Amino acid sequence: MEAYFLDFANLLLRWLHVIAAVAWIGESIYFVMLDNGLRPPKAAEDQRKGVFGEMWAVHGGGFYHNQKYASAPEKLPEDLHWSFWKAYTTWLSGFGLFVLLYMANPGFYLVNPGSDWAWAANLSGWQANVVALLFLLSGWVIYNEMCKRISPNMERDGLLSLAVAVMMVGVAYLSTQIFAGRAAFLLTGAVMATAMSANVFFWIIPGQRRMVKAMKAGETPNPIDGKRGKQRSVHNTYFTLPVVLLMLSNHYSFTYTHELSWVIMSLFIFAGALIRQFFVLMHAGHLKPAYPAAGVALILVAVWVGAPTAGNATAAATASTEAASVEEAPADTEVVAQGGALEEVHAIITERCVSCHAQNPEHAGFSAAPAGVILDTPEQMLRQVDQIKQVVASGYMPLGNITQMTDEERAKIADWSP
Ligand code: HEC
Repeated sequence: MEAYFLDFANLLLRWLHVIAAVAWIGESIYFVMLDNGLRPPKAAEDQRKGVFGEMWAVHGGGFYHNQKYASAPEKLPEDLHWSFWKAYTTWLSGFGLFVLLYMANPGFYLVNPGSDWAWAANLSGWQANVVALLFLLSGWVIYNEMCKRISPNMERDGLLSLAVAVMMVGVAYLSTQIFAGRAAFLLTGAVMATAMSANVFFWIIPGQRRMVKAMKAGETPNPIDGKRGKQRSVHNTYFTLPVVLLMLSNHYSFTYTHELSWVIMSLFIFAGALIRQFFVLMHAGHLKPAYPAAGVALILVAVWVGAPTAGNATAAATASTEAASVEEAPADTEVVAQGGALEEVHAIITERCVSCHAQNPEHAGFSAAPAGVILDTPEQMLRQVDQIKQVVASGYMPLGNITQMTDEERAKIADWSP
């Protein structure tokens, strides 16, 4: 019953998370579009008032006239619209989901028993939780320090972008070495998403508050606040598409179970940023199809890198079994790969998978079959042969190899052709 309530909480929190993210990203995309779509004001009166650009739009049966001021308007209205709760809600609900799902079951969601790094492969559950939190925190600290040191007065923003790109490849690589595949994708996305929310919380909003305060006091706001807010907003813009792709990849195990998943992740990040660049330029009136073309090319490279090959699948499976199985197989036993008969394969599945993948799972923490995959009977198993072979060969299942599946058993499933 407890697992059922937790699952329900998970569903509701995910609902909130997606809605907040849609609202936040939607608004952010809207403002970038608005900013880039501004044209010099037509009316002499507006020019005199200090209007820097304007945009006319029609939406929902009404006409809108947006104006942006070069510095400050003559008088600030009382009811200034601020945007920050969407960003905070997205982060808080996302973090809540991470706690509820990953940190509540670190043994099979966070720990990577197949890691090449022994310390990572042997993390206990609570250690993995601490490492995951430190990972997120250091992501922000390093990114923030880079911004402050490389381009403190926004004078080297190009170089900074390059450094952030290199950092993200490093984050992708480290996360796949340390954490289980799915968590690695999630945490890499979360490093970017945390930077986005923290940019709003620590820089953009406080900078705007200082600007408003100065204006109310009749002083000229410090231009650095505006410039810095812009710098961090620009980073956020390029993070949005990659973050969404990484979060969605979580539902596609072929992405994060691959041996080169960090390369796939990096390609996703660059592809997302390039595609975003196309829209940013388009709203400013420049059509540059080379950017999305390059983005699509990177996705195609990811498709090519990620295509399953017998070699890498077996390597991953071996690595994860080696690290996790304690009792089995003396070293001199040769692994004879042979196609197992249906009963034989089902016996393996029953032993290694059905504690979770049953109509009524016995494994603590599951109120229903995970991912809807039920493997109680041979018929049910036969309906999902390809999926079973993929997750077993890549070493993704059993999760964290918690039921200690052996190499022989993996080989039997790999060669089984019903
Ligand atoms: C400890 C519990 C547990 C065990 C044991 C386990 N699984 Fe899973 N399985 C899960 C969870 C949780 C998910 C959902 C993860 C996700 O959404 O990616 C899942 C997802 C799957 C999926 C869907 C993957 C996808 O891409 O959506 C398949 C197929 C699967 N498991 C097969 C197996 C097989 C075959 C075994 C035995 C070799 C096995 N599982 C053992 C917990 C388990």
